[in-house]
Amino acid sequence: MSSDIITSLAPMAGYTDAAFRRICSEMGADYVVSEMISSMALTMGDRKTADLAKIHPGEAPVILQVFGHDPKVVARSVEILLTGNYPGCSYAAPPAGIDINMGCPVKKITSNGEGSALMKNIPLAREITAAAAEACAKYGVPLSVKHRLGWDSDSVIAAEFAYEMAKAGASRITLHTRTREQMYAPSASPEACRETAERLRELNVPLVGNGDIETIEDAKVYLAMGCSEVSVGRAALGNPWLFRQMKDPDSFTPPSLEEVIALVSRFVTQLVQEKGETVGIRESRGRAAYFIRGMRGSAKIRDRLNHCTGLKEFLTILESTTLEQQV
Ligand SMILES: Cc1cc2nc3c(=O)[nH]c(=O)nc-3n(C[C@H](O)[C@H](O)[C@H](O)COP(=O)(O)O)c2cc1C
Repeated sequence: MSSDIITSLAPMAGYTDAAFRRICSEMGADYVVSEMISSMALTMGDRKTADLAKIHPGEAPVILQVFGHDPKVVARSVEILLTGNYPGCSYAAPPAGIDINMGCPVKKITSNGEGSALMKNIPLAREITAAAAEACAKYGVPLSVKHRLGWDSDSVIAAEFAYEMAKAGASRITLHTRTREQMYAPSASPEACRETAERLRELNVPLVGNGDIETIEDAKVYLAMGCSEVSVGRAALGNPWLFRQMKDPDSFTPPSLEEVIALVSRFVTQLVQEKGETVGIRESRGRAAYFIRGMRGSAKIRDRLNHCTGLKEFLTILESTTLEQQV
């Protein structure tokens, strides 16, 4: 029996590129979110930033995530993304939505008053959301906001913050159930979603639960707390099959080793096609490692991958993983 859990791939800078989004789309993610895009850099015409917004064939609906601290600049970047009016724009399908990042804990971002720093400045966060929502409304595209529980344990404001962002125009909220202070540890607190989901229900705005979802049982805990959807980040990096399992738990069978290696090989090939051989191979080393983690001889294989520079050799090494498991 298929489940009706709505699942998405969480935005991850350096990871949720088109090649990985396509893999998760194939596995059944209902939608996928881009890496975060600097509103400032995009409006200044930075080409590398614009490349992050490319949408390739075969992707589930793609939500483009932006960050910034200036409501006008954020709104302008939303317009640029939604009109596709920038050099290098390439959309196989129009963006399905815009998400504003109000959760990034990285100092380089928060020191500019962006990402999770916006949780310390609700009036500005409200202005940014309202300006972005207005820009989105012109194109009939929904706006969402992703944030954390609060800045630190003394300022857990998720329910109020989500409510304010929804009132300002966000039609979906994603809550990463940690504070900024917690970064990515200790474990996430799904129970913290209960109050936020309840507040959002008053406005008919769905809550997406996020944080440490590694199994279908983890997803169900978020749903039990009142979330309408779940968003998976790190667990998908080596196990995109999780989306398939969440969609159809009863008929799910874990992938065989050959299937894992075939998928990684296809993924690496796409990374190389999209980023060129030098960058593609450099990035593939770490990306492939997530998939082979825990396999017999994986340290040796990782070491060989780290020293290889061409796609053909990379694929041969990956292929040898299968043999390695048979000895
Ligand atoms: C390497 C990395 C990059 C991330 N980049 C972003 C980002 O660009 N935008 C964002 O909103 N969250 C970002 N996040 C946070 C994730 O979307 C997610 O909220 C967090 O990892 C918790 O979910 P998980 O336990 O399923 O990974 C990032 C997380 C990681 C580990």
